[in-house]
Parts: sequence; structure tokens; C-alpha cells
Amino acid sequence: MSDSPVTTHDPKGAESAEGPSAQQQKQMESAYANMKRKMAMQEIGKKIKHKIMVLSGKGGVGKSTVSTGLALSLAQQGHTVGILDIDITGPNVPKMMGLDGKRLHVEQGRIHPAQGHLGVKVISMAFLLEDEDTPVVWRGPIKLGAIQQFIGDVEWGELDYLVIDFPPGTSDEPLTVAQSLPDIDGMVIVTTPQDVALLDSRKSITFSESLKVPVLGVVENMSGYTISGTTTPEISLEIAGPGGKKHKVTSDKDGKFNVTLDIFKQGGGKSTADEFGVPFLGELPFDPGFVRGGDDGVHRIVSEPDGASAIAFAKVVEAIKSQIGTSESQGLEII
Ligand SMILES: Nc1ncnc2c1ncn2[C@@H]1O[C@H](COP(=O)(O)OP(=O)(O)OP(=O)(O)O)[C@@H](O)[C@H]1O
Ligand SMILES: [Mg+2]
Repeated sequence: MSDSPVTTHDPKGAESAEGPSAQQQKQMESAYANMKRKMAMQEIGKKIKHKIMVLSGKGGVGKSTVSTGLALSLAQQGHTVGILDIDITGPNVPKMMGLDGKRLHVEQGRIHPAQGHLGVKVISMAFLLEDEDTPVVWRGPIKLGAIQQFIGDVEWGELDYLVIDFPPGTSDEPLTVAQSLPDIDGMVIVTTPQDVALLDSRKSITFSESLKVPVLGVVENMSGYTISGTTTPEISLEIAGPGGKKHKVTSDKDGKFNVTLDIFKQGGGKSTADEFGVPFLGELPFDPGFVRGGDDGVHRIVSEPDGASAIAFAKVVEAIKSQIGTSESQGLEII
């Protein structure tokens, strides 16, 4: 056999004596970029202690409100926290975090998150949009590729918690994230007390099995509306709630009273959780302050750190913390 190189001409692009063809060069570059991205993901995975996905079957149930609330509540407790807003078509986390119109800072090819309220680091697809009023219609593969790249290229630094906010439904995005980020602790499913939202949250629970990510539990959002007032001390009152339902309350020695009205139904989140044998993480009240906070960029937890909503969030955070680590996350293979 001769040692001399054999020069071939292969139209499909096989290697010739002159070196790799343009096509091979491209393949090698893309394999190298992919390997680097995977390594970056593994590195990011190690630096972030806990990763929590926030999902719901139905849109508009308050995922982004809950994601930002959980992140702020964790930050209030002294943790270092980040939020990854995966919603490409309607990202509104920056607005809720007071970062509307911000642009990301890129240094040596790494994307640095913006810092929102309480030092929470925020990465959102909204930061990539030239004009937030222009809807982003990205085709599936481009969108998913962008998510993978986004995850690999962000310089989060060391974080105690990363909260990941998703668009509604059991779509491709959670799958892409589960295939990109190692060691996800689990998912929090947000529901409202209405039946249709409950039905859809059942779908999310089934979906978690295919992602091999445990369900940390179900949160019932917009659950009851608390009204407070002052009257004569220590008297009984009857307050008419929605649907004519009567609520009996007694004022305290200072004449103060409060009562929680079921504006929708109540207890649905708990019954869904019970039915599927997953933990119930608690209820978050209906609070018009969330809507104002979403509009003016000051989240309820920031404007009223000791208010009823902040207390409700802190309870949910405690429930999540106690669930983390109780079930082993198998996780999907990182691709
Ligand atoms: N507990 C609450 N009390 C009052 N309003 C709320 C509450 N939670 C959410 N909202 C309001 O409901 C609307 C939808 O909330 P949000 O954007 O968080 O839902 P989402 O599930 O993220 O929606 P999408 O599916 O479009 O991503 C917002 O206007 C928000 O301010
Ligand atoms: Mg949202």
C-alpha cells in the first residue's frame, strides 16, 4: 500500500488531499459551536443552584405575575435570583420588573442580564425586539434555536434560583429548555379557580412526565379578593359577596375587619393537586395592585413588601423550597 496521499474528487464534499471541503468546514464549525454551547449550558447549570419552571395550560392565568412575584419574594429573603422570560411572542416580564425599553449588555460575546427590582437579574426576549409593538412571528426552529442560544450565551454568574417564565400551553419551549438546562428542580403550575383553567393545568401535569421534570406543585392564582374596613369595635357584620353569598365577620377591638370574597370559585387548585397527587403550594389573592404594577412597572411586592400579597407569595415560596429536593429530577438528555 502506498503512503502517498490519494486525491479524490467527491462532489458530495468528502475530504480531499487539499483539506476539508467548504461543506465539511461548515459542518465542523457547527459541531464545534454546538459542543461549546453544550459545555456552556453545563457550566451555567452548575452555577445556578435551583431552576424552577413556571407553566400553565391556559393563557392569562398569571404565570408572569407569579414568576416575577416568586423571584422578588426569593430576593426579599436574601437569595440571588434571576428570571428567564422565554415568551418570545408576548414577553412582559421586563415591564413588570421596571425594565421596559432596556437593552442587554454584551461583553466578549456573553450576554449580561439587566438588573430589575431587588437586584433580580432579568433576561427576556423582549430585550431583543427592536420595537415592542411589532409582534414577533418566528418560525419554530428559529425560535427554538434562539432559546438554546440564549440559554448558552447568558452570563448569569452564581445564582441561588433561576425562575423560568413560559408562554401558555404545553408547547415546544419547555421541551427545549428541559433539553438545554441540566438539573431543573421542577415545575410550578399556575391555575385560576375557573374550571377551564383547571382542566388545562391537568394537561400541564401530564406534560411534566414527558419532560421528566417533577411537579413541585400547583398555585391557585386570583383566588379570592380581600376587603378590609373599620366599623364599631366587636360587632358582627354580614357582607354580601358575589352571587349574593353572605359572609359573616366580626370586627376586632379596634373596629377593624377583613373578609375574603370568592370572586371566582375557590379550592380548585387544591382539588387538582389532590387528584394528581402533587403538592398544593398555596393561594395568591386577586389583587388589583398586580394590574397596576404590571402597567407602571412597580411590582406589588416592591410597593408593599409587607402587604397581604407579599405574605401570600412568601408562603408559596416556603412551600416550593420544602418541595425542592424531595423528588429526584431525572431530566432529559441535553442536546
Ligand atoms: N393575583 C392577581 N390579581 C389581580 N390581577 C392579576 C393577578 N395575577 C395576574 N393578574 C393580571 O392578569 C393579567 C394576566 O397576568 P399575566 O400576564 O401574569 O398572565 P400570564 O399567564 O403570564 O399570561 P400569558 O399567558 O399571556 O403569558 C395581567 O393583567 C395581570 O396583572
Ligand atoms: Mg406571561
